[in-house]
Amino acid sequence: MSPLSALALMALTGVCSCQTSDCSYLDLLTYLNLTTTNGAAVNMRPVKNWTTPTLVQVDMVPFGILQVDEKTQTFTSHIWINMHWNNEFLTWNASDFCGIDTLMVPRSSLWIPDVFIVEDVSDSGTIQHSPLVSLSPEGSLLAITRQRLTATCLLVVTLFPFDQQRCNFTFSSMNKASIMLGPINNETALTRTSEEFMVTQGEWELDKMEIFEYRNNISRYPDRLIYTVTISRRPLLYVVIFILPLLFFVWLDVASFFISEARGEKLSFKVTVLLSISVLLLILKDMMPSTENHLPMIAIYCVGIFALVGLSVLEAMLLSFLHDLDGYCKARSPDNSEEKIQLEEDFYKAEEAPENGPVPPDRPEGHDLLKLILKEVKTTRQEVGGPNKDEMRPGRYRRLADIIDRVFFSLYLLTAVVFLTYMYTAWISQII
Ligand SMILES: *[C@@H]1O[C@H](CO)[C@@H](O)[C@H](O)[C@H]1NC(C)=O
Ligand SMILES: *[C@@H]1O[C@H](CO)[C@@H](O)[C@H](O)[C@H]1NC(C)=O
Ligand SMILES: *[C@@H]1O[C@H](CO)[C@@H](O)[C@H](O)[C@H]1NC(C)=O
Ligand SMILES: *[C@@H]1O[C@H](CO)[C@@H](O)[C@H](O)[C@H]1NC(C)=O
Ligand SMILES: *[C@@H]1O[C@H](CO)[C@@H](O)[C@H](O)[C@H]1NC(C)=O
Ligand SMILES: *[C@@H]1O[C@H](CO)[C@@H](O)[C@H](O)[C@H]1NC(C)=O
Repeated sequence: MSPLSALALMALTGVCSCQTSDCSYLDLLTYLNLTTTNGAAVNMRPVKNWTTPTLVQVDMVPFGILQVDEKTQTFTSHIWINMHWNNEFLTWNASDFCGIDTLMVPRSSLWIPDVFIVEDVSDSGTIQHSPLVSLSPEGSLLAITRQRLTATCLLVVTLFPFDQQRCNFTFSSMNKASIMLGPINNETALTRTSEEFMVTQGEWELDKMEIFEYRNNISRYPDRLIYTVTISRRPLLYVVIFILPLLFFVWLDVASFFISEARGEKLSFKVTVLLSISVLLLILKDMMPSTENHLPMIAIYCVGIFALVGLSVLEAMLLSFLHDLDGYCKARSPDNSEEKIQLEEDFYKAEEAPENGPVPPDRPEGHDLLKLILKEVKTTRQEVGGPNKDEMRPGRYRRLADIIDRVFFSLYLLTAVVFLTYMYTAWISQII
């Protein structure tokens, strides 16, 4: 080989090494031995000394509250999970690779910590891992997962619809003692991020997020990282469709005491009110879990009002019965009042008969006046005679009914006021 050609070759290799001088991602990937899937690298925890635990930092950011199901006690949300850990073998000097400071590496060629959420009951299809993991020169990795998370959550609906729920999301690992868990950001920053990115909340509002860390180096249990998400319900709709209508029903029922008993409409009106309340009760039953130990206040409210109206229906029935009894006694009483009435009606007919026919033109004006006076006298006589008749036996039931009605009405009003005040203090004032 001539010196010239040797020089040319050297120059060529120099140029070549310069051109391929580690400026592409592929070179870095080759340098890191990640071009072929290395089974050992995927399966083994990437630490140089096995006693070194791997610190896995996890951030959970909810960006949508999809559903809170009181019946099945689940909380469905849309979350991001950022997971951060270190790989001691995947390091490089950025200045050797034209300053590449981030490399996206396929998830499948790396060891990924097995961190899971204990409360998770969602289908496997709801998890969406980002296919690439970002790697920085110090070997720190960041994996992002998006998930439609359905988690079990103990929902306490005692104060429904003014309730506030606290749901725990416990991150844990199946690897004992080799993985330490911790958060990336603090809770203030997380809550702010979450509020910023929140796309849908439905009837709920995210109040705050808290982070609890349970370090466990006794190696019996793995570490736990608990995110406690506090959400509160927006109660306006329930106030409008439940609480106010029920209040109106009580008022209607109170007002129905002033409907006259004689027409028999009082009872049917009260029964209609009772039916309307039972419709609301049915709707409520569909919403509330039946496994609840503490009865929800709204159920007590509904049932209390139902009982009040039910009692007033019973009272109306009793009154109606007494009135009927009264009428029955009157009909059976040895009194000639019916005969008298019959006689009077006959008299009336006889008097009024000429008016049905064509009025004679020569009729004197005084005749009409006389008839009017006669009518007046008759009505006064009836009015004077009325009370006398009522003082006799048959009127007793009617008077009894009146007394019962008055006493019951006072008691009813008192009970309703006491009950509503109690509900207000025990239920609504707890929140305000
Ligand atoms: C890649 O593998 C070669 C040989 O298998 C080894 O010498 C080298 O240190 C490895 N590089 C890295 C970054 O692990
Ligand atoms: C591995 O770590 C243990 C405890 O930290 C230490 O005692 C030991 O010397 C380390 N081994 C090596 C080879 O660095
Ligand atoms: C990276 O390489 C440059 C020069 O090649 C050197 O000066 C620097 O100290 C290296 N950095 C690290 C962290 O090794
Ligand atoms: C949620 O986590 C907190 C903090 O560890 C704990 O006090 C609380 O009891 C947990 N709640 C439930 C329902 O497990
Ligand atoms: C939380 O982190 C932010 C920056 O991310 C910092 O400004 C704030 O002081 C931290 N708050 C607490 C309570 O540590
Ligand atoms: C366990 O944790 C405690 C503090 O929480 C620490 O003092 C102790 O050294 C730890 N033990 C081991 C074996 O890491």
